[in-house]
Amino acid sequence: MKVDAVILVGGQGTRLRPLTLFAPKPMLPTAGVPFLEHMLSRIREAGIVHVVLGTSYKASVFSDYFGDGSRLGLDIEYVVETEALGTGGGIRNVADKLRYDTVMVFNGDVVSGVDLCALYATHVANNADVTLHLVKVADPRAFGCVATGAKGEVLEFLEKTEDPPTNQINAGCYVFKREVLLAIPPDRVVSVERETFPNLLKAGAPVFGYVEESYWLDLGTPAAFVKGSADLVRGFAPTAALPGPVGDSLILPGAHVAKTALVFGGTTLGRDVTVGDEAVVEESVVFEGAQIDTGARVVRSIVGAGATIGAGAHVCDAVIGDRALIGAGCELRAGIRVWPGVEIPASGIRFSA
Ligand code: GDD
Ligand code: MG
Repeated sequence: MKVDAVILVGGQGTRLRPLTLFAPKPMLPTAGVPFLEHMLSRIREAGIVHVVLGTSYKASVFSDYFGDGSRLGLDIEYVVETEALGTGGGIRNVADKLRYDTVMVFNGDVVSGVDLCALYATHVANNADVTLHLVKVADPRAFGCVATGAKGEVLEFLEKTEDPPTNQINAGCYVFKREVLLAIPPDRVVSVERETFPNLLKAGAPVFGYVEESYWLDLGTPAAFVKGSADLVRGFAPTAALPGPVGDSLILPGAHVAKTALVFGGTTLGRDVTVGDEAVVEESVVFEGAQIDTGARVVRSIVGAGATIGAGAHVCDAVIGDRALIGAGCELRAGIRVWPGVEIPASGIRFSA
């Protein structure tokens, strides 16, 4: 496909703190590699080679890891916003790097099985200014709600509205005509969702939706992050970057699991993780070097690098920061987040919401 890919990765990932205090959201280890690597593998599979990352928060983490992209068969360039320009500002800011007349823009935190070639074909067939990938979700309030007409033309774009008129939402992937992208005002904060799309619609521009039923998930919250990672591991969500076979768990080199422990539900154990006797780890993401002691139970949680979950501790729906120590017998549940390096003494917390 003769299109540029632009990936917006400048957000601060506040809903995933404390993990995003040191790494931007798209660089968090997800099913064994930084999340963005899964997305890049799908872009490459669709035949796109030139990728521009619109960065801002912790920009150097991306270029340090991906470099020129040649390892992935890609040609990756980076543009850094010294002050975050928002989604539209971030798209406009990469204009100098574009090589083709058509640009495919991606939010950098979405797992999706969308057929990018079919999305592009729809855009071309409609001679659209912009084509938006749309999906249907149970609760559209946290997203951009997008109503379409009989021919797929977009009628209305309402970002994060309390009373959404439809459950069809913006899936965070757009095809732009380059000239339409160039019409976004440069050098200021612009929201593509709150300003660019509504303005195009007001002007009667041809903006179309492309609706698909394939796998889709925004990884912006801890609950979604663990689900997305587990679905990649289990092969429910597509990727060409899984560093191992699809299965009920992904155990990276150097990790050690005691014979009587149970690791399942799409859990990933990073390098050098240890899981003790009779411990249970279900649908979780355990970063490198973490230690889960005898009889501990970790469910739908993210355990940061080098953290310790003490013997018999229960950790459910929680985020444990890097190097934190959860003492033996503690119980942490329901969205609790422990900051990096914090030490909770044995039986120091019994928390259930
Ligand atoms: N370069 C740059 N600059 N990128 C940014 C900026 C910025 O100022 N702000 C956000 N981003 C990037 C984030 O890193 C993320 O990859 C993407 O833009 C979307 O930001 P989120 O913060 O994840 O937005 P959201 O999930 O609340 O809503 C967006 O995505 C939904 C679908 O997942 C909107 O586009 C919704 O309309 C959409 O439904
Ligand atoms: Mg998001």
